[in-house]
Amino acid sequence: ARITLRQLLDHAAEHGYGVPAFNISNMEQALAVMEAADATKSPVIMQASRGARSYANDIMLRHMMDACVEIYPHIPVCVHLDHGNEPGSCMTAIQSGFTSVMMDGSLEADGKTPADWTYNVNVTRQVTTMAHLGGISVEGELGVLGSLESGMGDQEDGHGAEGQLSHDQLLTDPDEAAKFVAETKVDALAVAMGTSHGAYKFTRKPDGDVLAMHVIEEIHRKLPNTHLVMHGSSSVPEELQEIINRYGGDIKPTWGVPVEEIQRGIRNGVRKINIDTDCRMAMTGQVRRVLSENPAEFDVRKYLKPAMAALTKLCCERFEQFGTAGHA
Ligand code: G3H
Ligand code: 13P
Ligand code: NA
Ligand code: ZN
Repeated sequence: ARITLRQLLDHAAEHGYGVPAFNISNMEQALAVMEAADATKSPVIMQASRGARSYANDIMLRHMMDACVEIYPHIPVCVHLDHGNEPGSCMTAIQSGFTSVMMDGSLEADGKTPADWTYNVNVTRQVTTMAHLGGISVEGELGVLGSLESGMGDQEDGHGAEGQLSHDQLLTDPDEAAKFVAETKVDALAVAMGTSHGAYKFTRKPDGDVLAMHVIEEIHRKLPNTHLVMHGSSSVPEELQEIINRYGGDIKPTWGVPVEEIQRGIRNGVRKINIDTDCRMAMTGQVRRVLSENPAEFDVRKYLKPAMAALTKLCCERFEQFGTAGHA
């Protein structure tokens, strides 16, 4: 059945687990994620970005999500809008059957310019006011994603902040977080602690200087009843980099967010963990492998099936590691 983010994360908080939110934009990803949820008996969050919505079409996404619920009636499915950039994109997602939306007012509607406090509070409150009337959940964000190593917002994939950012902008202030939740009534709060989107988060295994998990602990102390969200939380496993590179890819050496740091977050109020890059890499590695081992192959199912299997395996691992398994 469909479930809202609030229902799911309230349950996760009560039982002390976290829920991975996997980005999807096509049928293969949706089916692979559902298969993992079924195999591990996990509730699931599938999220679509604005880019995913324009890639797949809202009508296709709505019917795909209906199909997932029909195929797996015993699995709770939250359908979430990732990084809504203005109230309008949140409202059209709700019209398309999403049970939860993110209003990311940490950046202006261009998705690049860091927004000021008043803007963020106003757009976020506008969305919570409307969404809550219809029983839909809302995630907000305070602080800007980006690298504490370089001071750069994550602009690599085109939706991060631009230019050099200060330490203050890159880390969420715990007192401001408390004020933001009180003023906006968000159901979940995404916080910034040094992660960025995409494959290139850290140039070495992150320590406390570049991955500021202590910020999450402080926010959780101030806001013990708020569900926290970690964005940019792919672990970018070396094995996945290696498979892509072995079959002709070009991923430069890089580090993501170690699973044990996410587990530390889960012990400190993190309930939703956003993962896209790992999913993309898992599938891409298999597509590269099959096509390079079988250059004459042109049946799309021959490479998409192993790609789906690799995604299912990754999702099963995260459901187990985050304690989601067994809670469906
Ligand atoms: O945070 C962004 C997600 O990784 C989605 O990326 O905008 O390329 O679909 P996208
Ligand atoms: P990754 O790029 O680390 O997978 O982050 C995804 C994300 O935060 C989606 O909102
Ligand atoms: Na989101
Ligand atoms: Zn994100």
